[in-house]
Amino acid sequence: MPGGEQESAPRGIDTTTPHIARIYDYWLGGKDNFAADRAAAERVMAATPTIKPGVTANRAFLRRAVRTLARQGVTQFLDIGTGIPTANNTHMVAQAEDPGSRVVYVDNDPIVLVHARALLAGVTAPTSFVDADLRDTGRILDEAARLLDLGRPVALLLIAVLHCVPDDEDPRAIVRTLMDALAPGSFLAVTHPGVDQMPEQMAAAEDALTKAMGFKVTFRTREGVTAFFSGLDLLDPGVVPVQDWRPDDGDAPPSATTGMWGGVARKP
Ligand SMILES: C[S@@+](CC[C@H](N)C(=O)[O-])C[C@H]1O[C@@H](n2cnc3c(N)ncnc32)[C@H](O)[C@@H]1O
Repeated sequence: MPGGEQESAPRGIDTTTPHIARIYDYWLGGKDNFAADRAAAERVMAATPTIKPGVTANRAFLRRAVRTLARQGVTQFLDIGTGIPTANNTHMVAQAEDPGSRVVYVDNDPIVLVHARALLAGVTAPTSFVDADLRDTGRILDEAARLLDLGRPVALLLIAVLHCVPDDEDPRAIVRTLMDALAPGSFLAVTHPGVDQMPEQMAAAEDALTKAMGFKVTFRTREGVTAFFSGLDLLDPGVVPVQDWRPDDGDAPPSATTGMWGGVARKP
């Protein structure tokens, strides 16, 4: 319940420090954010007015990518950096195509966990939530294997999360470790804020988000984002601005350039 004196947080949740999941929720028009998150979100918006169309287009990419993969027969999804549940979550899109689709969500934000538990309480289809850090690949794979058959294709979704891992923590190695554990025929979907679309605005946004978060976020070039797909076969149209990846009639086209790169690739 934003903006009110009665705003309350679940026990144990620090609401005084902005968090990316709640900032993102505010940009998407959600209610699961607090004063510190909104102030940080507004500072980033001042630097980058296109942030709202950007995050909306990013969510739309997620929907199209999951549906595309579900229609290619993928029934297992590992969605890391899930975010606070909103419309068109991965399990909703995947299970609309095949009600037996299995979805494992992973996030390291306790407030996402609280919301995810509430959301999943009413879900009968096979969906689970893991409270883990993207960097903890061993734990993620162990936990994912409780619900997913890693001997069969899995779609790994890293949607707007890799910028939270700086270069000196080798995010490419993290992605490689995860993909190496998945069967041939698995897929990787990535979206990522770019430094080379609207360079001035995106540099200002990267700076504002880093200050707001208290840790370094790293926006990357198209080449840097493409490198995450190394050894995989990129689906058409490759790594493109998210709104240009297989657009359909389901979303209004964004009113501005979004600054986000996105792509999907198959493990041979
Ligand atoms: C910008 S939001 C994106 C949410 C969702 N994937 C989407 O695109 O709509 C980034 C999410 O990644 C999570 N996150 C950030 N760093 C993470 C990490 N190291 N491990 C796991 N989750 C992380 C945040 O808590 C947040 O929920």
